[in-house]
Amino acid sequence: MRSIRDEINLSEKKILLRLDLNVPLANGKIKDSTRIDKILPTLKFLIQHNTKIIILSHVGRPKGKFIKELSLKPIGENLQNKLGVNVKLIEKNIYKIKNKDFFNEYSEKILMLENIRFYAEEEKNDLKFAKHLASLGDIYVNDAFSCSHREHASIHEIQKFLPSFSGLQLDLEINALNKITVEITKPITCIIGGSKISTKINIIKNLITKFDNIIIVGGMANNFIEYLGNNIGKSIKEENSKQIVKEIITLSQKEKCKIYYPEDVLVAKNLSGSPKNKKLNEILSDEMILDIGPKTIKNINNIIDKSKTILWNGPAGYFENPDFSNGSIQIAKKIIERNKLSKIFSVAGGGETVSLLNSLNVVDNFNFVSTAGGAFLEYLEGKKLPGITALN
Ligand code: 3PG
Repeated sequence: MRSIRDEINLSEKKILLRLDLNVPLANGKIKDSTRIDKILPTLKFLIQHNTKIIILSHVGRPKGKFIKELSLKPIGENLQNKLGVNVKLIEKNIYKIKNKDFFNEYSEKILMLENIRFYAEEEKNDLKFAKHLASLGDIYVNDAFSCSHREHASIHEIQKFLPSFSGLQLDLEINALNKITVEITKPITCIIGGSKISTKINIIKNLITKFDNIIIVGGMANNFIEYLGNNIGKSIKEENSKQIVKEIITLSQKEKCKIYYPEDVLVAKNLSGSPKNKKLNEILSDEMILDIGPKTIKNINNIIDKSKTILWNGPAGYFENPDFSNGSIQIAKKIIERNKLSKIFSVAGGGETVSLLNSLNVVDNFNFVSTAGGAFLEYLEGKKLPGITALN
């Protein structure tokens, strides 16, 4: 993979820069600008190297139709304010745009094409569409790791027509993910939570072959707790998960990866009920598991203490209610403590985990926090991502 950082011949080049500016919008306002903030170094780098930039991005899922609410306008304005450089949104039909139409004025530095998913050809990975996009620039840069699992024209097919490079943010993401997949410092532990075990089964199976410990928390742990013969009352669980749990246990024994699940839990009668700490065999039929208990937290802390690499995906409980956020907070605190002592390399990712870390204002205390959703999970499953494979 060639990084744009190592390319020396950039001056005056027109760079087609694929970004993931898919940020949450409500009534034309940006609700979380993390993804915008993260790519500012790439834009500054390209500006410093005297390039002309054409930003390609999508927001939302307009499915090939023009949807006013999914315009990139507010995002372009946000970028413009942060960079102090004019960002011109091109609303004209992409097919009517020609390479020679832009950058004729010296002051013109950054253009942004309107939401690329307004064109059905994007998601169809259409060759002609990709070729036309490519004709607008001299070099293609993918700085959208979080879109790289999509075989779309502006991610994949476009790379057939231009010299293609990875962007600075994508480099960081791949470097961090390599440390938990191919260049591992052991012992390595994964803490995995969230509600649906079926959505994480392939990740767990892939990680079992490389990891020393996998700690299952959150709603998914309920399936284990029930499988082991306990009553889980009204707790969320997934039907027909027995086979999945069995497969995970069998594979972990074969691969000598230790699987941990909660030893004690916090339960309540409903999501806003008062918390009670219970052993697994004490849960009543009208109670639900909403967090891990103090014994479990202690065990997890011990495992973190003995680990050199940590991957965390998915909260330990129903953290939206502060009564059930302690498990997740204690995990975060312990990882941060070890990180500050430079004892571990820590990676966290996944929508809920990122919002938890954001709410605690501790994102910068991890070695790497991935804002990629689906791409992060597919990478952990060991899948090849089309946008990355093409770069290679
Ligand atoms: C994301 O938010 O994960 C990326 O922007 C990809 O979005 P998508 O799931 O709509 O393809």
